[in-house]
Amino acid sequence: MGADNPFVAIQDLSAGYFASRCLHVVAELGVADALDEAGMRVERLAEQTGADPDALARILRLLQTHGVFGLQDGVVTHTPASRLLRSDDPRSLRDFTRMFGLTLNWRSAELLLEAVRTGTAAAPRAFEGGFWARLEQHPEEARIFDSAMTAKAMGQVGAITAAYDFSGFRHVVDVGGGQGHLIRAILRACPEVRGTLFDLPHVVEAARGGGDEGGRLAFQGGDFFKDRLPEADAYILMEIIHDWADAPAAEILAGVRASAPAGAKLLIIETEVPEGPGPDWSKTLDIVMLTLFAARQRTAEEYRVLLEGQGFEIRRAIDTGAGISVFEAQSGGAPVTRSAGGLQSTVG
Ligand SMILES: C[S@@+](CC[C@H](N)C(=O)[O-])C[C@H]1O[C@@H](n2cnc3c(N)ncnc32)[C@H](O)[C@@H]1O
Repeated sequence: MGADNPFVAIQDLSAGYFASRCLHVVAELGVADALDEAGMRVERLAEQTGADPDALARILRLLQTHGVFGLQDGVVTHTPASRLLRSDDPRSLRDFTRMFGLTLNWRSAELLLEAVRTGTAAAPRAFEGGFWARLEQHPEEARIFDSAMTAKAMGQVGAITAAYDFSGFRHVVDVGGGQGHLIRAILRACPEVRGTLFDLPHVVEAARGGGDEGGRLAFQGGDFFKDRLPEADAYILMEIIHDWADAPAAEILAGVRASAPAGAKLLIIETEVPEGPGPDWSKTLDIVMLTLFAARQRTAEEYRVLLEGQGFEIRRAIDTGAGISVFEAQSGGAPVTRSAGGLQSTVG
């Protein structure tokens, strides 16, 4: 984008969503799956994906400027970024891209102006019951969403299990754990630990298919606003609190506190918003949260305040190096001090 030229910067930014839309379209058509490593003429690729050859070539020409696909003399080739759109790539972001292209997200984004004027979420204006109800009623969209969550977390779970030692726990509950990618990784890294995946009933039903880790993983469908959580010595909330404004987020934390035995740990795993003005994915995600839920990405300080409001103290904040942090909190207990590396416990 034209960082040095204000006219170009505004021009590119105003129409930048067309580039996003092109990405959604090729992900939906399965263009990266149809393209082999040798490269392919655009006419053949169009035929295989059910697209108009001229339109597809022009979409690929724009995406090429972002490093997604190569296109020369009518021959399309893969780039490292386009390979991430393949369904069979272990780090596939195809469903992640499709998720952002779903009517659910697209229609909500259209209503951002209303969300900003009123401070209320756009998704419930577009869809009765809002985001989660829409997914419950549309199984294919729910499948894409769940798969997108698994994909985005795949780049993070290794870093989380490397950065935080879960082996001292007996029972870990992953609250809103989606398809169970994190809790399964924890159980594989720590053979002595048992886990429970807690999420909405339709999500848990889909997650059962991924196996129960030799009987060590239990499944519980429920609503974290209404239902008691199982007793455990650690509760994980990974990218849950960012889906909610402060009042419902506080309710979720209160629910954990009510279920947790004394001494249990609460692990908030979130992408924190840095204090500086530079570009950061968290700042885009923050607008997604605003649009869909009137929710927010938070700074470390905002997490501290939110948690303290529910009687939790952050003992440690660990930057996993994968764009996501682990905030280890406990109810009550010793005071917290700030050090160069972030928040640190004054106890061991
Ligand atoms: C953004 S996803 C995060 C999934 C997973 N923790 C991760 O980080 O990849 C939010 C999760 O919260 C679950 N969820 C939403 N509302 C819920 C509720 N009321 N009770 C339980 N789970 C809920 C969704 O089904 C979804 O799996």
